[in-house]
Order: sequence, then structure tokens, then C-alpha cells
Amino acid sequence: MTDQNKYHLALKTAFASEYAFALKSQNFHWNVEGASFPQLHTLFERIYNEVYGSIDTFAEQLRALQLYTPASLQKFSMLTIIDDENEILEQGAMVAELLADSEKMANIFKITFEMAESAGDHGLGNFLAERLDAHKKHSWMLRATLK
Ligand SMILES: [Fe+2]
Repeated sequence: MTDQNKYHLALKTAFASEYAFALKSQNFHWNVEGASFPQLHTLFERIYNEVYGSIDTFAEQLRALQLYTPASLQKFSMLTIIDDENEILEQGAMVAELLADSEKMANIFKITFEMAESAGDHGLGNFLAERLDAHKKHSWMLRATLK
């Protein structure tokens, strides 16, 4: 695989993973139970709103590179590094899992940022750097909630 193909696949992987991350945040927003319900219901909502708010711009960045945007559940499941959660977890386990996933997202945005910069795609690089920062912030709030 050429460096350019690796770069493009990494971008599609990051996109599908971001969508899967948003869906999991929404899953936890809907299904969380327990004494911390009000805080966690709200925290998960803030996270999925922030992430969904970035999705359309991300998709259009891919199109600007002349890539087709993955846009089906099947494509997302083939590409994502964020695994579905099919069980209903206890509230603390939801926070811990979403924290681990947010760290995975920060890592893939760090990698794709470096690839974009190497390719001279600085506008896209800026977007990916913003996504990295957004996930660092989500990770901080989730980590602080676990203490
Ligand atoms: Fe809601």
C-alpha cells in the first residue's frame, strides 16, 4: 500500500471511529442508570453533541480530498477502531469504557494529524488537531468523573 493509500485509509478509519464514538456516547446517555444518572446523562449528551457537531465538516474534508465518505453502518463497522457495546454496563464501567475510547480517538487524530501535515494538507491538519484537543477535553471530564 502506498503512503497516500495508508493516509486515506487512516482518515476513513478516523471518520468511522468518530461516528461510532458518538453513537456509543448516545447509547450511554440513553441507557445509563444509577445514583449518578443526572450527571452522567448530561455529560454523555454534551460529548455526543460535540462529536456529532464535527461529523459533517469531517465528511466534507474527505470529499475535498476526492475521497468518498463512508456512510453506512456496514462500512462504519468494517472501518471503526471503536467497538460497539452491546451490553448494558454499570454506570462506572460506561465512564471507564468511554474514557478508553476517547483516548483511542485522541491517538488516531494525533496520527492522522501528522500524516496530513506530511502531505501538506494543513487545513485538514488544523481540523484534526482540533479533534485531538476535543478528545483530550472529553477524556479529562470522563477521567475526573471516575475519581
Ligand atoms: Fe436525550
